[in-house]
Amino acid sequence: MSLLELDNLSVTYRIASGEVPAVRGVSLSLDAGEALGVVGESGSGKSTLAMALLRLLPKDARVEGRVLLDGEDILAMSWGRLRAVRWAEASIVFQGAQHGLNPVHRIGAQIAEPLLVHGLAKPDQARRRVAELLEQVGLPAWRARSYPHELSGGQRQRVMIAMALACSPRLIIADEPTTALDLMVQAQVLQLIRDLVAEHGISLLMISHDLSVLAELCDRLAVMYAGRVVEEGPAAEVFHQAQHPYARALAGAFPTVGDPVSRLAPRGLGGDPPDPMQLPTGCPFHPRCPVALDECATLDIGLRPAGERRTAACVHAGLHPGLDSGLKEDVR
Ligand SMILES: Nc1ncnc2c1ncn2[C@@H]1O[C@H](COP(=O)(O)OP(=O)(O)OP(=O)(O)O)[C@@H](O)[C@H]1O
Ligand code: SF4
Ligand SMILES: [Mg+2]
Repeated sequence: MSLLELDNLSVTYRIASGEVPAVRGVSLSLDAGEALGVVGESGSGKSTLAMALLRLLPKDARVEGRVLLDGEDILAMSWGRLRAVRWAEASIVFQGAQHGLNPVHRIGAQIAEPLLVHGLAKPDQARRRVAELLEQVGLPAWRARSYPHELSGGQRQRVMIAMALACSPRLIIADEPTTALDLMVQAQVLQLIRDLVAEHGISLLMISHDLSVLAELCDRLAVMYAGRVVEEGPAAEVFHQAQHPYARALAGAFPTVGDPVSRLAPRGLGGDPPDPMQLPTGCPFHPRCPVALDECATLDIGLRPAGERRTAACVHAGLHPGLDSGLKEDVR
């Protein structure tokens, strides 16, 4: 059985001018010890999806569907059970989370806090666990006595990872954990997360807008567009032989891991991502799609089989193994 299973998950924000369908019917599964990368442009619904998993969304968000952790529906849990799950079973490292450290408390006290609050350790055990965690994330144990402002951005992000690991969760959700860091440090921190989860058999759901980074680190990839998964499958196949033209374009946009030039000047997609409140008819990608057919303006095709353990939401998917090379150039 999968450790995590999302079943037709939808999230709609209610705002003054109407409803924002930010996540629309996402179904995904993640096995124990597996790393799943979720990729998509800004606004495609990645963070909304991540927050929905642990019910961290604001009250004005309506969540539908099921989020099963080991078969237990997180969306239907009591608050007491949810609190226990958030600390002991699944933890999340947010976009820009390093700014969430409390400036007036020492690092060690902040890492130890969940262990003490949840009665998982006595003070001296917690101190030993903090030293162990700091060493796991590549920081010397004496750093426990430092304050956040005495650390670099990369070191602070390592502290956040230590906090996420503190209660030995089975699942870590990492939402763009390194966006604020420079490229070298980003690569180191991402690799650290990957190594730690592999070593401890933890499942990882890692979010980024950079497909090449996720392809390096993850076993499987899910590509999101306009709140939906439009392609999903083994990481190398999705990266090198994407079947959905949007996934193909993302793979072309960031061709080299950590290459600053490709990052600053990606061979970008034409057009803008759609406004979720005014989604195009038919396939939501059709106004930007270089291989759209006439029917794409009216036909909203769902995910369909596109190979072994692969799906893609495109009329061309499954017809041939990846788009042919002429098409690849068009899409890029
Ligand atoms: N609290 C909110 N209220 C209303 N709309 C929201 C709220 N949070 C997000 N949205 C909208 O939901 C959509 C998805 O946003 P989300 O933050 O999940 O995207 P994302 O893929 O994480 O983007 P990014 O890459 O920029 O982090 C966007 O259209 C966004 O404007
Ligand atoms: S269904 Fe049509 S518009 Fe959508 S991605 Fe495929 S070819 Fe392009
Ligand atoms: Mg986000």
